[in-house]
Amino acid sequence: MIVISSTVPNIEAILIKAFQKYAPSDHFCLIDSPEAEQATTAASWFPDLEKLNQLPKLSLIHSIAAGVEHLNLNEIRPDQAVCRVLDPHHQKGMFDYLLWGVLYFQRYFDRMLQQQKQQLWKQYRQSYSHHIQIGIMGLGHMGGYVAECFTAMGYQVSGWSNSPKNIPQVKSYVGSEQLSEFLAHSQILINLLPLTKDNTGILSAELFQQLPDQAALIQVGRGQHLIEKDLLNALDSGHLRGAIIDVFEQEPLPAEHPYWQHEKIVVTPHVASHAPMSVVVEQILENDRRLKQGLDLCHQVDVNKGY
Ligand SMILES: NC(=O)c1ccc[n+]([C@@H]2O[C@H](COP(=O)([O-])OP(=O)(O)OC[C@H]3O[C@@H](n4cnc5c(N)ncnc54)[C@H](OP(=O)(O)O)[C@@H]3O)[C@@H](O)[C@H]2O)c1
Repeated sequence: MIVISSTVPNIEAILIKAFQKYAPSDHFCLIDSPEAEQATTAASWFPDLEKLNQLPKLSLIHSIAAGVEHLNLNEIRPDQAVCRVLDPHHQKGMFDYLLWGVLYFQRYFDRMLQQQKQQLWKQYRQSYSHHIQIGIMGLGHMGGYVAECFTAMGYQVSGWSNSPKNIPQVKSYVGSEQLSEFLAHSQILINLLPLTKDNTGILSAELFQQLPDQAALIQVGRGQHLIEKDLLNALDSGHLRGAIIDVFEQEPLPAEHPYWQHEKIVVTPHVASHAPMSVVVEQILENDRRLKQGLDLCHQVDVNKGY
């Protein structure tokens, strides 16, 4: 039995609808229903952990997304496993979004959109993929895939992770000792790190200073990776050229937030990529089945590492 748990009302409604559509009706329930006592798995997005922890049979907390920071991992019981959803559609969706973002800077669309407002006719020399250095923070399920795709298109790609990676034609940088060197080679910096206590606030003034002059940022990790005022300073000083931001400390982004009107910032409403709901439900059902049969779970998270 799967219990649906989200403290975000519209997400809870989306989950209920998806389970009604894609799961047998006797396989899921709501947290306040009597059936929840029988639940073995929780389908979760910012779940109510206090309520979940009272369910006697609950052994698996399942994120409905790739990220797990919303689960508050240090409050999860040691006897409970944590899994996340991973899917090729998710990777492809992320690459499509990032390719658009890279082209936006590579082909000067950022400047031309501003020019149009001023009815200014100014041309730019075409720049090719092999001229562009892309730096990807995080070379996991998403970052590794995206690195391969950009490399296949001729971009110069480097990546930064906790452990060394062997992806053909992708220069691998590891740990805090190699971060500066990695940043110095990143004209377009893509953040695809998971949010952990080690990397909260990593997109800071100190990091931006180490990027080449006129570098751009594409931020698709999590809002808490970025110190917002540091980004605004780096853009306003002219050091950074622009930023595309998909994830925010507060979502939805508040109406009075300076990003909305900033001419060097593109705001998108956390849409870079999502797994289809049919896949989310299918993977949670499959892991619940595996749990009952004592099989290895798919896409299990290392709770100690936090991702
Ligand atoms: N905006 C969106 O729509 C959207 C959609 C999907 C995902 N995301 C974001 O993308 C994140 C990444 O997803 P994923 O599935 O690729 O995660 P993942 O498979 O867990 O990979 C994480 C990568 O980050 C590296 N890493 C973690 N902490 C690090 C640190 N402190 N220093 C250096 N490297 C570090 C890991 O290094 P090792 O490989 O060495 O362990 C790994 O390569 C998600 O957690 C989520 O925040 C956003």
